[in-house]
Amino acid sequence: MADIIAVRDLVKRFGDVVPTVVLHGLTVSFERGALTAVIGPSGSGKTTLLNIISLLDSPTAGELVVDGRDFSAGDINAYAAYRNAHVGFIFQFHYLLPEFTALENILVPHWIGRGRPPGDVVGKARTLMTELGILHIRDKYPNQISGGEQQRVAVARALVNEPRLVFADEPTGNLDRESGAAVLEVMSRMIRELGTTLVMVTHDREIALKADRILELVDGRICKSFLVAEVGEDHARRLLEDRSCFADDVPPPANRPKTRGGPA
Ligand SMILES: Nc1ncnc2c1ncn2[C@@H]1O[C@H](COP(=O)(O)OP(=O)(O)OP(=O)(O)O)[C@@H](O)[C@H]1O
Ligand SMILES: [Mg+2]
Repeated sequence: MADIIAVRDLVKRFGDVVPTVVLHGLTVSFERGALTAVIGPSGSGKTTLLNIISLLDSPTAGELVVDGRDFSAGDINAYAAYRNAHVGFIFQFHYLLPEFTALENILVPHWIGRGRPPGDVVGKARTLMTELGILHIRDKYPNQISGGEQQRVAVARALVNEPRLVFADEPTGNLDRESGAAVLEVMSRMIRELGTTLVMVTHDREIALKADRILELVDGRICKSFLVAEVGEDHARRLLEDRSCFADDVPPPANRPKTRGGPA
């Protein structure tokens, strides 16, 4: 599979007075059409990485190529243009707009990007709702539906423009395991049908094991990156249990990639 996202020596540093390096020179690619699960402990840099590869935030240093275009320079206008046209987002907390119905919320990305949705787009939204099992709540407001239903509305909203890329940060984080598995199931099926690439942060190993690739971050570095089908599910489980990156196995400072553009 060809890569749709490639980062090379990616560094992210926050703060000028007390700079904190959060990503220490990551080099990693994401295959087009694949589902990648990003795992790792709290504070390891998962959201920071997701924000950069989804063009919500720019790298401090390093190369960032998305869909064949070089975004390393951090041109925020180019970021916004690409995002609006080709990217869908699903967050842990869905951020539905309370004054709009479920169906209207799903159509919001179309309104923002392209204006009033024509009949076929409304039809697509309804089809997505049917597949996600939420058509019956189409005219309800977010405060009238359950958390799982709200999350499925957010999934439909992320997919309605048929984006090339979908980023999900803990999309099942506030759902019980069963609803989480159901949302993931529908999401991955629809993503395969549309040929979309999905990068998803999750704390849930069982959910991660359903991905094509698992990428583990520890302390802003890549600890593991493997294809589940290539290593087999049993070995993938053992790899997830392996904690060698957490203690003595971190490479010595001399081997760490240099931070380009850092303070003199
Ligand atoms: N805007 C910011 N300014 C300063 N530090 C930040 C900023 N955003 C994130 N950080 C720091 O970067 C580190 C990585 O944060 P990040 O949100 O990427 O972690 P995470 O792996 O997503 O964690 P979690 O699983 O808790 O969501 C943390 O130490 C965090 O405090
Ligand atoms: Mg996070």
